[in-house]
Amino acid sequence: MDKATKLQFIYDLPKVELHMHLEGSLEPELMIEIAERNGVKIPFKSADEIRKASVFDSLQSFLDLYYLGHTVFATKQDFYDLAYAYFKRVSTTNLRHAELFFEAQEHTNRGVPLQAIVTGLDEACKQAQAEFGITSNLILCLLRHFDVDNMMALLKQAVEFKHLITGIGMSSSEHDKPPALYVDVFAFAKAQGWHVSSHAGEIGPAEYVRDSIELLGIERCDHGIGARTDASVVKLLSDRKVGVTMCPISNVLLNVTESIARSPLRQFLDANVKVCLNSDDPSYFGSTYVQENYDAVEREIGLSVREWIKLAQDGIDMSWADQLRRAQLQAELDAVKAKYNVRALYGVE
Ligand code: ADE
Ligand code: ZN
Repeated sequence: MDKATKLQFIYDLPKVELHMHLEGSLEPELMIEIAERNGVKIPFKSADEIRKASVFDSLQSFLDLYYLGHTVFATKQDFYDLAYAYFKRVSTTNLRHAELFFEAQEHTNRGVPLQAIVTGLDEACKQAQAEFGITSNLILCLLRHFDVDNMMALLKQAVEFKHLITGIGMSSSEHDKPPALYVDVFAFAKAQGWHVSSHAGEIGPAEYVRDSIELLGIERCDHGIGARTDASVVKLLSDRKVGVTMCPISNVLLNVTESIARSPLRQFLDANVKVCLNSDDPSYFGSTYVQENYDAVEREIGLSVREWIKLAQDGIDMSWADQLRRAQLQAELDAVKAKYNVRALYGVE
């Protein structure tokens, strides 16, 4: 496949994004606009100033700016606008299905009603399906910098909106926050019938990935980089079919990996771990959305056609979409396989 055809092929893959924080898609212009309309003071006068401040040397340096961005949100309209802007942006990149984290605790702890958050986001999801044909699920993402009681209180409140929330995730810094602290929280979430994932092995060690699987019962591991130092944890991911939602650009910009080429993506592919590519917090990382992550991986690692198809397939398999939607996504992937004749030319079934 020549270079131009390969890029078109990568573009054509029906993309599934499973690791994207909606608050991380708040573009600087929208941050300024929402802050102004809500009368919230932020230490930036312009979108350019926010862009200039978006240079990080660690996860924590990013989180400090990122959570400041959360403070502008107050109303249902704000959450609608946030999610709608994301969908509009990715609608040009053949994104077909997204499972989106939202970080309610940062907002409810400031007095924003959970109902405003969830219904604003849900209305944008419905609009995106009607207007762009993109389906989506919402994942309530718990935040490790709040205590377990605060997490539990929010989860109990969220039960009322169970029909609008597909899963529970957990993010923020793993520093000094081992998975064992969250056994009851995840047990409660699973008892409600929610799917569960967790950020694990971003800055935490392989042991945190293992414990998130064995103690918390996660179905997907967000980042999972730490697993690379322990072959038995990589094998556990593969054996238990816990897919890893990787975020190649995020990992480089937050100094989690030295480069995309040195990320464990190849190691995971070779070990038959399910993997998909995601944008994490696209607006804070120079507006690098899911397509930019696909392109960066091709530029810096250059995956084979077989590997690209595995990534697209894994994304579908790892998703929490219902059976009908998964069948539709599968048909779209099969159509791309047929278009590029991958069976005859590359031996891909
Ligand atoms: N919240 C948003 N992005 C995150 C990341 N990369 N790690 C932990 N928490 C996050
Ligand atoms: Zn993340």
